[in-house]
Amino acid sequence: MQSKRSRLDRFISRHIQIPKKQVRLLLAQGRVKVDGVIARDIDLQIDQFNHIICDGLVLQQRQARYIMLNKPVGVVCATKDDKHRTVIDLINEAVNDAPNSNQSNSESSNTDDLHIVGRLDLNTSGLVLLTNDSQWSKGIMSPDSKVDKIYVVTLKNPIDERYIQAFEEGFYFAYEDITTLPAKLEIISSHCALVTLQEGRYHQIKRMFGRFRNPVIGLHRLSVGDIRLDESLLPGQSRQLTATEMMSVGGIPGNN
Ligand code: URA
Repeated sequence: MQSKRSRLDRFISRHIQIPKKQVRLLLAQGRVKVDGVIARDIDLQIDQFNHIICDGLVLQQRQARYIMLNKPVGVVCATKDDKHRTVIDLINEAVNDAPNSNQSNSESSNTDDLHIVGRLDLNTSGLVLLTNDSQWSKGIMSPDSKVDKIYVVTLKNPIDERYIQAFEEGFYFAYEDITTLPAKLEIISSHCALVTLQEGRYHQIKRMFGRFRNPVIGLHRLSVGDIRLDESLLPGQSRQLTATEMMSVGGIPGNN
């Protein structure tokens, strides 16, 4: 997916296959609009979501999309899967089931360019973010961003205070040859804890509790950064993020 910013003259030259010299002329003549405003600056930086028109011809009009989904257990975090329903299937089903839905080809219902921001396992439920804005997702997923992800964990066996320190100290994972970052564990009850991670290693929470030979029997993601799973969303339901939610994690799109 195109994610980087590029110069307006380069974009037009590539898009309509004309030399940059000719693009300069188009710009000087005021025949190009970016987001509704006549653009004359060849150096103008544009991204994948600027609306660009040249001589009335739309060259680009992608809309940035930011979605939260309440993923049920048994649905796979993938765009395609032969065996299980995917998170993308759920979003498509929601669009098709919407009243007055006759928009299968419209921009707002197109799921082709969506990707998942931090996968959950098949048997994990809760908050999954999807977007077509790869700069935004990079801002969330980058290890430097240190975005908190909070999970409710239900265990087979009782937990105790020893877990808190072990999670804080980190666990050595030989396969990846890494030690996990300090994680916060809060005991909610004898068999239930809240765990806050700033990374997302393969089966990370299950492997951490595995060190105590304590199987995870329920795992649910409550939040990613300041985005909390909307309690009004039933399992399988999704909605667009509000602007405040979107801007609360990963930085302001385009500023990364
Ligand atoms: N840790 C896991 O083990 N699984 C998940 O889905 C998320 C975190």
